[in-house]
Amino acid sequence: KYEGIIFDLDGVICHTDYYHYLAWKELADKMGIYFDEEINNRLRGISRMESFEIILERYQGEALSYEDKVKYTEEKNEIYKKLLYKMTPNDVSSDVVETLHALRNLGLKLAIGSSSKNTKLILKQIGLENFFDAISDGNNITKSKPDPEVFQKAAEYLGILPEHCLVVEDAVSGVEAALSGNMDCAGIGEAAKSSRITYRLSKFSDLMDFIQ
Ligand code: G6P
Ligand code: MG
Repeated sequence: KYEGIIFDLDGVICHTDYYHYLAWKELADKMGIYFDEEINNRLRGISRMESFEIILERYQGEALSYEDKVKYTEEKNEIYKKLLYKMTPNDVSSDVVETLHALRNLGLKLAIGSSSKNTKLILKQIGLENFFDAISDGNNITKSKPDPEVFQKAAEYLGILPEHCLVVEDAVSGVEAALSGNMDCAGIGEAAKSSRITYRLSKFSDLMDFIQ
């Protein structure tokens, strides 16, 4: 049925979604902005600057220039990267690693489709930098999820038609991106609550039940 699978990274392959939360939380606390995990769920799949704009909905300080915003997002990224540098291959569950290899053994092409500009760093930290057949990330897109661009590019890099690709997502914005790109979508974590998904995963290896 499917020829390729496109995986979101943060919150699907590994739990860098929690590190995003920790880094934004540190910045928001410093700026006196209320921030919690529910607001963080709205940032899933969304670019760095768009995420900051959502956080700023509760900001009550002086108006910020674009340069200020860039400075704050860079500060958040530095906090985030310190957490990334501590990651090792142990930060990927055996359920994920075993499933990835099983999917590859079935002859499927596997890609990453992530809005993150830190994708390559994360893949290196967790020992998967040479594993995927294609990587489409925050560095090759002009619009982040829910725009389908990141997944369309991933399908193109794999050389597979969108309708033959399955996307795996934890973000509601990512589910919308997949569907509007004419791809089926398996939802895990936060996205498993969505009524729009094609398949619901309670764990990563549930994928094996849906791919043939
Ligand atoms: C992923 C995450 C988002 C994050 C975005 C940009 O899509 O789900 O929470 O904001 O990537 O990440 P970056 O690492 O470039 O700041
Ligand atoms: Mg995600």
